[in-house]
Amino acid sequence: MTITVRLSDDALALACGANAVAAAFAAAGCEVERVSSWGMHWLEPLAEIDGQGFGPLEPGDVAAVMAGTSAKAIGPIEDHPFIARQQRLTFARAGKTRPLSLDDYAATGGWAGLDTARTIGTTATIAQVTASGLRGRGGAGFPAGIKWQTVANASGPVKYIVCNADEGDSATFADRMVMEGDPFLLIEGMAIAALAVGAGKGYVYIRSEYPHAVAKMQAAVKLAAPRIAPFEIEIRVGAGAYVCGEETSLLNSLEGKRGEVRAKPPLPAIEGLFGRPTVVNNVLTLAAVPWIMAHGADRYAAIGHGRSRGTMPIQLAGNVRHGGLFETAFGITVGELVEDVGGGTASGRPVRAVQVGGPLGAYHPPSEFHLPFDYEAFAGADALIGHAGVTVFDDGVDMGAQARFAMQFCAVESCGKCTPCRIGSTRGVELIDRIRSGAGRAVDGVEALPQMHNAPRAGRSRADEIALLEDLCETMKFGSLCALGGFTPYPVLSALKHWPEDFGGDFGG
Ligand SMILES: Cc1cc2nc3c(=O)[nH]c(=O)nc-3n(C[C@H](O)[C@H](O)[C@H](O)COP(=O)(O)O)c2cc1C
Ligand code: SF4
Repeated sequence: MTITVRLSDDALALACGANAVAAAFAAAGCEVERVSSWGMHWLEPLAEIDGQGFGPLEPGDVAAVMAGTSAKAIGPIEDHPFIARQQRLTFARAGKTRPLSLDDYAATGGWAGLDTARTIGTTATIAQVTASGLRGRGGAGFPAGIKWQTVANASGPVKYIVCNADEGDSATFADRMVMEGDPFLLIEGMAIAALAVGAGKGYVYIRSEYPHAVAKMQAAVKLAAPRIAPFEIEIRVGAGAYVCGEETSLLNSLEGKRGEVRAKPPLPAIEGLFGRPTVVNNVLTLAAVPWIMAHGADRYAAIGHGRSRGTMPIQLAGNVRHGGLFETAFGITVGELVEDVGGGTASGRPVRAVQVGGPLGAYHPPSEFHLPFDYEAFAGADALIGHAGVTVFDDGVDMGAQARFAMQFCAVESCGKCTPCRIGSTRGVELIDRIRSGAGRAVDGVEALPQMHNAPRAGRSRADEIALLEDLCETMKFGSLCALGGFTPYPVLSALKHWPEDFGGDFGG
């Protein structure tokens, strides 16, 4: 009997050498099926045979797997603690289906949400999404139902659905995994949104660094076209700017303009793409909708913590032993995630800091590990969940350098539209260099700014410079037009608050 081996063909598995392992299984006479990724990244390439997992594999391990003597056997994948602890709604198919198989999709409940939406109609569909408590997973946590209702209420014959797949945050890959592993799920979510608001056309804006996701989505859109007609979807590829993930900047980019942030109002829901009412939603927001429509808003709303309802596909990365995709109900604490689920650092050193929410998220010391994943709890701690990327650092990290990096990132990625961000971020880098070195020298190999801005200022103490940095952060926080300038103070101030010793430097006073 031919043995069937299932291996992921997503970008991470490929980068880890999955094709060579697949070729080795094929050469050994196995039938190889390429499926989506389970999201246990440290085990890739991960092979599954009759429910049993083996990983991380190299081609040379195949003989032992076939002989039943592999030291890389991990037992039944579904029972692995990393999987068993999860509540997978959005990622229910992860590891189990062939991404571009319409048969697999339909056989695992695919299209049930769209069928329900078609049956109950637009008003009831929006009511379901609203009642589910679903909030935008792109970062701002805005209620999806309210956004959809606004677009539905807007007048005009032409409306759009725009899926934000720019996924620029550090430590994030959930959007990519949906697009590469379960593309019909996103297409179904967009089709439900289109039906709810009366849109005829949708766009998926994917970052250029995701060529595998672009290819999968292009193929999936063609295959699903008859199923979602008359709604149509077009795939667009970004050009590599972090700020193009910001929704108005993204719309400018889609229109072929420079990716510069637009002032709000008007909201995109009123005047969005080409001036038309537009739903802009993150991949995970749209991908959560089919489950809600198929299983009911009540069931979704029953899961979660506080006003954060449902599940969140959390992404564990950085210096962590068990990195990967962990979908769970809101409410799990940072400590549980990092220590229990993630298994601590990959280096085996103590965890010193955890950044949640990408480059604009705050740094958390272990004393804040009690914080639950909940939008309001994070906001109350001057922090953000963002797109739920979690980056772990061990005790070798220099938090002063991380604060400098945050300001530098803002300076490099700023769209330049407003002064607090465009100028403030550059002044912030200079200020942190002055605080840290007091002499304008390069810090940790990062190129120093010109001496004239960097040199210690006569009569100004270190405390004065820190007060100036805090004042600058205040100006950026409240004076910036968008969250790039507005949230950069979170990583900077959290680093300064929790690790003042890393800002070193003493130049009198
Ligand atoms: C600088 C910046 C970058 C952003 N990048 C992304 C991104 O990559 N993906 C995303 O979905 N939202 C991103 N956002 C948030 C979007 O502006 C917007 O809130 C989101 O696409 C709305 O969808 P949601 O309600 O489903 O979250 C970014 C915001 C800012 C300020
Ligand atoms: S905060 Fe920065 S990125 Fe945002 S609009 Fe202002 S200059 Fe542009």
